Amino acid sequence: VINDLVFGPPLTTEDFATYLELGEYAFSEAPPATPRLARLTEDEPDEPIYRVGRRAGEIVCRARVVPMGQWFGGQVVPMGAIGGVVVAAEHRSGGVGTALAADFIRAAHGRGMAISTLFPASLPLYRKVGYELAGASYYWEIPIGATAPPRRSDDGIVVQRWSGGDFALRPLYDQEASRTSGQLDRPPTFWTGVMESHGQAVHAFVAERDDNPVGYITFTQTGKYDAERYIDVLDFVTTSRAATRALWTFLTGHSGTVSHVRTWGGATDTRLFDLPHRGQRILTVEPWMVRIIDLPGALMARGYPDRVAAELHLDYRDDILPDNSGRWLVRIADGRATVERGGDGRIVLTSRGLAPVYTGYLPAASVADPAVLSGTAEDLASMTTVFAGPTPWMADSF
Ligand SMILES: CC(C)(COP(=O)(O)OP(=O)(O)OC[C@H]1O[C@@H](n2cnc3c(N)ncnc32)[C@H](O)[C@@H]1OP(=O)(O)O)[C@@H](O)C(=O)NCCC(=O)NCCS
Repeated sequence: VINDLVFGPPLTTEDFATYLELGEYAFSEAPPATPRLARLTEDEPDEPIYRVGRRAGEIVCRARVVPMGQWFGGQVVPMGAIGGVVVAAEHRSGGVGTALAADFIRAAHGRGMAISTLFPASLPLYRKVGYELAGASYYWEIPIGATAPPRRSDDGIVVQRWSGGDFALRPLYDQEASRTSGQLDRPPTFWTGVMESHGQAVHAFVAERDDNPVGYITFTQTGKYDAERYIDVLDFVTTSRAATRALWTFLTGHSGTVSHVRTWGGATDTRLFDLPHRGQRILTVEPWMVRIIDLPGALMARGYPDRVAAELHLDYRDDILPDNSGRWLVRIADGRATVERGGDGRIVLTSRGLAPVYTGYLPAASVADPAVLSGTAEDLASMTTVFAGPTPWMADSF
């Protein structure tokens, strides 16, 4: 236990400068042209929460929590996206990182977030405070020859260049995000990255049927055209298999000048079902971790399969957020959950036991660690049924 650390927001221009220096040291994060101290201290609900830890007055660590949302079971769950976790190099390996994580978990709880998600650089630190692997995003490379025969789609879908900005595309993204699992409820700043890319030309095309958009793709092209040349997808969203096929057919039209298409996707991803040939590879896997911040809030915010009715009797343990601890009776019906105190506490669990099941990443029995989740085979099976859904992944990172 470390008790010589004091946590809070950065308060002065000097604090902010230290915050930026720590990021630059760890991640080569470029400092913004105009430091915006106001943003660091404003108490606005959608503003990032910046946290620093001080030892004898000196800032020794920092992190931020960005309020957004994440789709599970067709609903948006309020989520705190953790980023920029840094402990000053000379203060590492002494428990500062663990204390910092406990602090940002409490900060997220105080702001109404139901879960928190992060991309871990290393796992043990986050496991100690209740995060567990709960989804993974895959970077796929698809040889252009494996995409589709170079024929026009016959589904009545036409692909057209798009210059209309992102507003008309957002409903398509939301529609698809509600059907899959783990996608971000994107804050406006994330849409910038879908339509712009560091000075490189971003191409946007929309698939339309009867003048209605049914899918879209945005991408850059990199590499030399007589060697390896890539279509690097920024966003590839379709609302039907027919729309997916139309966009693959469109991409195949680049086979004379492009060697591969690269895109983020899921391990099971219906967009890849319609590739007619083999040959795709996974270049990178980015696993992400989730922690339950507000247990009843998290259970009530997500959606559930429509025809499933079940009761879960939880006995939940949370050392950092004791409000979550105790017995909870969860009733699932008509696609939603109600949560109240009580029940028999037959399923004993912590955030690390719940998170991977909650997102649909693992069946309850596969957690197989009584230190984080235990119950009868029957109770674990009913837990699995309740949270089952598409394998979670997200197109974005933070
Ligand atoms: C990762 C980082 C925040 C950890 O801070 P810290 O103060 O050293 O962490 P702690 O001392 O509280 O260590 C917590 C646990 O994580 C483990 N851990 C810490 N750093 C680790 C690393 N780089 N690799 C693997 N495990 C690590 C420790 O073994 C410890 O477990 P233990 O107590 O059971 O031994 C710090 O090393 C850092 O700032 N790194 C550079 C930036 C970075 O990688 N950020 C993470 C982005 S998600």
